[in-house]
Amino acid sequence: SVEEMETRIREIKEKFGTRLYIPGHHYQKDEVIQFADDIGDSLKLAQLSANNNLAEYIVFCGVHFMAETADILTNENQKVLLPDMRAGCSMADMASIEQTESSWVKLQELFGDTMLPLTYVNSTAAIKAFCGRHEGATVTSSNAKKMVKWALTQKERIFFLPDQHLGRNTAYDLGIPLEAMAVWDPESEQVEYDGDINKIKVILWKGYCSVHEKFTVENVEQMRKDYPDINIIVHPECSHEVVQLADLAGSTNYIIDKLEAAEPNSIWAIGTEMNLVKRLAQVHFDKKVLSLNPNMCPCLTMNRIDLPHLLWSLESIEKKSPINQISVDKDITRDAVVAVNRMLERA
Ligand code: 13P
Ligand code: SF4
Repeated sequence: SVEEMETRIREIKEKFGTRLYIPGHHYQKDEVIQFADDIGDSLKLAQLSANNNLAEYIVFCGVHFMAETADILTNENQKVLLPDMRAGCSMADMASIEQTESSWVKLQELFGDTMLPLTYVNSTAAIKAFCGRHEGATVTSSNAKKMVKWALTQKERIFFLPDQHLGRNTAYDLGIPLEAMAVWDPESEQVEYDGDINKIKVILWKGYCSVHEKFTVENVEQMRKDYPDINIIVHPECSHEVVQLADLAGSTNYIIDKLEAAEPNSIWAIGTEMNLVKRLAQVHFDKKVLSLNPNMCPCLTMNRIDLPHLLWSLESIEKKSPINQISVDKDITRDAVVAVNRMLERA
C-alpha cells in the first residue's frame, strides 16, 4: 500500500542519514517531492549535489540529463541514481552527439569559424562536452540571456542547441531580429532562414519541448476573454508567439518568484509543467492560479518517477546493489565540466 511504501522510504532515509541525498525537481509529483531533501530547478539541484560531500548516494528525482549533470559535478565516490531509466527528456533526445558533430561540419561549410556552440542544459553530457571542446558553454533558462550576450562577444554567431524556442526568445529579448535567426534541421541537414545568410547571428537547432509547445496562442486569447484581469506567465520554452502575447516570461524560478510576490486575489495563468502549476495553486490559495492550457500539461517522463520507483531505488542501495546508476564517461565528464564551468563563472 501507499502507507507501507512511505513508511519504508522513511526508514531507509533515516537509516542512511546524510549518506543519502534526494534532490527533487519542481516538476516532480507531490508523492515524490514529500521525500526530497531539496527542491529546485535543474541547475540548483546539480550544484547542491556537487556541494554535498557527505552524500554517498544521490537519488535524483528528475530526468536523465539532470542526473548526468549531477554526476559530472560530483566526485568519484558519489553515486548518482535515477529511479527510472525511462525518465528522459524528449527535447534532449532531439539532439544526438553524432548529429551534432555532423551538423557542425556542415554549418562550418556555410559559416566557417564564426560560430560558438551553446547548449541548453537539457541535453546529453556528450553535447555539453562538444561545447566544452569548441569554446562554448551550457546555459539554463535562468541565465540564457547573459550567456548569449557573452557568446556574441566571442564569435560572430552562435549555434544554439537543442531548444529553438529558448534560443529564439532569448536572442529576440537581446534585440536580435527574427531575420537574423536561422533554424538548422538536423534531419534534412538544411538551414532555414529568410533574407541574407550573411546577416545570420543565431542558428537554432530544430528542437522543442513537447510539454511547453502545448501552450498556444488560442489558450492565451481564451484566458484573456474569460478573465480580463489575468496575468499570463510562461516559460521561455514556449513558442515565440505565446511568449510575445504573455505578460511575463521566465525560468521556473522566475515563475515561482513572481507568484510569491503577486497580490492576493490576483489571477494567474501559467504556461509550464502541470505538477508545478498544481503546487503553486495549492501554496497560493489566496490567488487564483490556473494552467494556461486547461487540459493541463504533464511532462510524462518526469512523471515516470513515482513512489514505487523511488522505493525500488532506495531498496537497491539498502541491498548494496544500486540500480540505475548514472555514470558519465571520464573523457566526456572532463570536457562537459569545461562547458558547465564557463556558465557558472559568468552566471
Ligand atoms: P529548469 O532548468 O528551470 O529546471 O527547467 C528544466 C526543464 O526541463 C524545463 O522544462
Ligand atoms: Fe524535457 Fe520538456 Fe520535460 Fe523539461 S518539461 S524535462 S524540457 S520534456
